[in-house]
Amino acid sequence: MAVQQAAVIGAGTMGAEIALVIAEHGVPVVLKEIAPQYLERGLRQIDALLQRRVERGRLRTEEAQAARARIHPTLEEQALTTVDFVIEAVPEQLALKQAVFRDLGRLTPPHAVLATNTSSLPVHELAQASGRPANVIGFHFFNPASVMRLVEVVVTAETAEATVATALAFARQIGKLPVRVRECPGFLVNRILVAGMVEGMRYQQEQRAALDAVDRALREQARVPMGPFQLADLVGLDIVAEIGGILEAAYGERFQVPPIVRELVAQGRLGQKSGGGFYQPDGTPLPLGDQPVEGEQLVQRVLAAGFLEAYRCLEEGIASPDEIDLAMQAGAGWPLGPLTWAEQQGLPRVVALLQRLAATVGPRFTPPASLVERAARGEPLRPQPTDTPRSGGA
Ligand code: CAA
Repeated sequence: MAVQQAAVIGAGTMGAEIALVIAEHGVPVVLKEIAPQYLERGLRQIDALLQRRVERGRLRTEEAQAARARIHPTLEEQALTTVDFVIEAVPEQLALKQAVFRDLGRLTPPHAVLATNTSSLPVHELAQASGRPANVIGFHFFNPASVMRLVEVVVTAETAEATVATALAFARQIGKLPVRVRECPGFLVNRILVAGMVEGMRYQQEQRAALDAVDRALREQARVPMGPFQLADLVGLDIVAEIGGILEAAYGERFQVPPIVRELVAQGRLGQKSGGGFYQPDGTPLPLGDQPVEGEQLVQRVLAAGFLEAYRCLEEGIASPDEIDLAMQAGAGWPLGPLTWAEQQGLPRVVALLQRLAATVGPRFTPPASLVERAARGEPLRPQPTDTPRSGGA
């Protein structure tokens, strides 16, 4: 059944933009907040995005007005008693989100899907808090939520298949590309993206390289849309520090975010949302280095780190090979998925690169034994189409 009425809890940067995406696709959406000033801030963001779309000729004025009219801002929890699909997008604090899920379990109709946009907290713990874990699922958007096509649909051990089916269908209903992901810390895309981001930042620190030279080299030579410092400014340095901390606790030092990120957070430099992070609002980079970049080294380190994490996700059964690649393209704008990158290089060459990086940069690049064996056997990363049986064959 198509979703007739949706709700978004929390009108922050992500929540407001998610509500807009839903409304633009014809679905009425309740936007719930706890205080009028938060609601007003979210509505201002929505109006600014709509105005920009109209100015750029992406929407007609009547379409923008119709989308805006489908958004029902409220402070009242009673507005949640008739919704079919709820997306929680409150700040990333477990206790706060658990309280929201307790309320959702109590207020929403029994059939309602209770989804969370969390980027790093355990979905199954929110599910427990709701009292109806079969209805709970991760529904993770990527920044900017109205532009990036991906939604990670994060499935816990207790999520019902009917909930998964509704979430996949609703993502498509609102113009997104869903990828089904098995729950693990960091899910799929952030594991791969942050592995590459941290590696780019480490390179900058070791080489005392200019930030903008690092970003430029990755844009020009790896053809990714943003280098690590631009990306951190877009996502928010506080979020990078938080996700990095969760990933490091779960998987180890390969996710160790350089201390400068937390130092800047402590200074209130959070990125675009606070008027500057690694870059000033006028685009000037912080003077954290001035050395030139050896582009090939940098690109190899970043892509190898991303591939290694993608390979681990593949081995752990987090997503299918095709969906791993698709997710990095639709969620982070990579020109190629990491597995396709490795296939194009050839697995034996990738293994040799990882071994060289393990010896020269750090043991975090050590290729897993299964990868070394796979490359030696000439076994591909994804199942190949089976040979058609020969006529007359058994
Ligand atoms: N908010 C909303 N819309 C924005 C935006 C923003 N911050 N920045 C750009 N846009 C819109 C523009 O209005 C424009 O829309 P139209 O095509 O309708 O005119 C469109 O995006 C393209 O913008 P530009 O032409 O100005 O810029 P661009 O070609 O450089 O693209 C980008 C901008 C889409 C952000 C691109 O740089 C990109 O893909 N970057 C990678 C972003 C990424 O990796 N996101 C994932 C981060 S991880 C995450 O979010 C998960 C998490 O849990 C933290």
